[in-house]
Formats: sequence, structure tokens, C-alpha cells
Amino acid sequence: MKFVLKAALLVLALCVATSTFAARAPKSAVFGSAHDFKTQLGGASYTLCNFCHVAHKFGSAPVGPGYLLWNHTLSSVASYGVYTSDSMRSTPTDLGGQLVVSNLCLSCHDGTVAINSWYEGQAAANFQPLPQGTLFMPDDTTVRDLTKQHPVNFVYPDATTAAAIGIQPAADQFSVDGNGNVPLFQGRMQCATCHDPHAGPSSGAHLFFRTFPSTPAQTLTGTSCVYCHL
Ligand code: HEC
Ligand code: HEC
Ligand code: HEC
Ligand code: HEC
Repeated sequence: MKFVLKAALLVLALCVATSTFAARAPKSAVFGSAHDFKTQLGGASYTLCNFCHVAHKFGSAPVGPGYLLWNHTLSSVASYGVYTSDSMRSTPTDLGGQLVVSNLCLSCHDGTVAINSWYEGQAAANFQPLPQGTLFMPDDTTVRDLTKQHPVNFVYPDATTAAAIGIQPAADQFSVDGNGNVPLFQGRMQCATCHDPHAGPSSGAHLFFRTFPSTPAQTLTGTSCVYCHL
């Protein structure tokens, strides 16, 4: 009897422990989101994913990065500036001209490149459902001056520094939480640390937010900020 009770308590404890780990949104959650350009723009035979990624870069459009099979034309803005303050310990580097994950967001979100401008969009006749270069990011959602945004593109503080400045220490160089729900990219914090570009409303996400592991403090304040800022 005692054993059964113990086992039941263990199961209960496991349930509580696992419920704090939110799952990653499936890639299909991009359907119906603000990033679903196929639906929004009537992208005919084009696959939804191809607005950002393409499986192969062939013949007529071999340009553009191989990184994440990126298909959206990257921006040529040379400098976005970096966030600084008296208290900030980490040192962000300027994203201009780099090939890091935040630049994939800025390829649309800095407002300088049309949404329907692709590396592999011009190749086959049936592979260009939209006229090129006609649709730009609306002004109110452009992110161009990175001196006034949450800092990105810096090495996440090591455990000692994190403890000294009240930051959730990173589990490893791939993520803060150790499960990829709050990812780091080569140990760096980027736009995609907070946002998952595939997490549409169908996954319960708002503004493409990552599913941060919930903490009691977060439940009280209702924000992901206090998951990292302890
Ligand atoms: C609006 C642009 C956009 C669309 C549309 C998009 N992605 Fe992504 N995808 C990104 C960006 C940006 C990243 C890098 C950030 C990250 O890792 O989440 C990424 C990363 C990925 C990754 C590697 C990281 C991971 O989370 O596994 C895979 C795999 C992926 N996308 C698959 C897909 C598939 C499949 C689709 C279509 C169902 C799709 N993407 C649609 C922008 C997009
Ligand atoms: C292919 C172009 C493209 C790429 C790449 C892209 N976005 Fe977007 N994103 C858009 C457009 C267009 C909108 C809708 C803007 C509007 O309606 O005002 C949008 C909307 C958003 C929104 C607001 C969502 C909402 O529900 O209102 C967020 C947040 C966002 N993007 C973040 C990101 C992040 C972070 C990345 C990179 C990880 C990224 N996007 C990559 C084009 C893109
Ligand atoms: C520390 C987490 C964090 C990082 C890093 C981050 N964001 Fe956000 N983002 C937020 C929050 C919180 C909001 C919603 C509140 C707000 O508008 O400030 C938001 C909102 C947005 C929106 C929607 C704005 C609107 O009003 O519709 C866009 C677009 C966006 N972010 C893009 C980006 C891009 C691009 C980057 C990288 C340069 C980035 N974010 C980095 C947390 C983050
Ligand atoms: C994934 C973890 C993470 C999330 C989520 C996050 N931050 Fe941060 N934030 C950091 C890190 C790491 C730094 C760099 C701290 C340093 O090096 O001093 C930072 C820096 C900052 C700074 C600059 C600090 C300074 O000393 O100048 C502010 C302000 C800030 N964050 C506010 C916020 C707010 C507000 C939110 C929620 C919208 C948020 N953060 C969400 C990790 C995060």
C-alpha cells in the first residue's frame, strides 16, 4: 500500500515537472499566421515554406546562402547599430553584413527588401506566382534601428556573469532551457531566441513568441521577460 502511494506521488511529481516544459510549435503552425504568405498572397503552386526556405538551389539562381536553405533575398543594409548602456555586460556586434539568424528576420523586417523577392523564385515559369518586388514590410513593423530594440547578436552571459547580473544561466550553447524552447545560436542570443517564426495562432502563440517554460514569477507578471531576468 505504502509503495502504491509512493508510486502515485512520484507520477504526480513527474506530471508537475513535465508540465513546466512547453513543447516547441510544429512547423505547420506557420499556416494561417502573419508569415503565411501563400494564403495571404494567393501563392498558387508555391509551397508556404518556400517564401523563406527552398530545398534546392539550382541553375539560374545559385546565389544566396546555403544557411538554413535560405531563399528570401537578404538585405544589404550595412549597419543597424547596437544597443549599449552603463549596466549591460554583454557586447552585441552589428548585424550589418553578417550571416546570422537575426539577419534572416531582417531580410524582411528591415523593410528594405520586398517580401516576394527570392533567390530561387525566378527559375521555372511555374515557380513565380507573384510579380517580383511589389510588396514591402509595412512601416509600423520595420526593425531597422537596433540601438532601440532588445539587444541581440551577443554571446549569452556565462554562468558566473549570469549569476552576478540576475540572468537565467544557459543550459548549454544551444538553448537557455536545455530543450531548445529558448534557443541560442552558437551561444548567442538572437531574434529567434524570443520568437519562433513558425509559431502561428494555431499553436497558441501570440506574435510568434517561443513557448517559454513557465515559472511562478512569470504567471504573476504575465511575461516571458522574468524567465530570463531573475
Ligand atoms: C517567414 C519565413 C519562414 C517561413 C514561411 C518558414 N520558415 Fe522555417 N525558419 C525561418 C527562420 C527565420 C528560421 C531560423 C530561426 C529558427 O531557428 O527558428 C527557420 C528555421 C527553420 C528550421 C531549422 C530550425 C528548427 O526550428 O528546426 C527548419 C527545419 C524550418 N525552418 C522549416 C520550415 C518549414 C518546414 C516551413 C514550412 C512549413 C518553414 N520553415 C517556413 C523562417 C521561416
Ligand atoms: C519573408 C519575410 C519575413 C521573414 C523572413 C520574417 N518575417 Fe516576420 N513578418 C513578415 C510580415 C510581412 C509580417 C506581417 C506584418 C504586418 O502585417 O504588419 C510579419 C509579422 C511578424 C510579427 C508580428 C506577428 C503578428 O501576429 O502581428 C512578428 C513578431 C515577426 N514577424 C517576427 C519575425 C521574426 C522574429 C523573424 C525571424 C525569426 C521573422 N519575423 C521573419 C515578414 C517576414
Ligand atoms: C527579448 C525578447 C525579444 C527579442 C530578442 C526580440 N523580440 Fe520582437 N518582440 C518581443 C516582445 C515582448 C514583443 C511584443 C511587445 C512589443 O511590441 O514590444 C515583440 C514584438 C515584435 C514584433 C511585432 C511588433 C508589432 O507591434 O506588431 C516584431 C515584428 C518583432 N518583435 C520582431 C523582432 C525582430 C526582427 C527581432 C530581432 C532584431 C526581435 N523581434 C527580437 C520580444 C523580443
Ligand atoms: C532569453 C532570455 C531573455 C529574455 C526572454 C529577455 N531578456 Fe532581456 N536580456 C537578456 C540578456 C542575456 C541580456 C544582456 C544582459 C547583460 O549582458 O548585461 C538582456 C538585456 C536586457 C536589457 C538591457 C540591460 C542593460 O543593462 O542595459 C533590458 C532593459 C532587457 N534585457 C529587458 C528585457 C525585457 C523587458 C524583456 C521582456 C520583453 C526581456 N528583457 C526578455 C536575456 C533575456
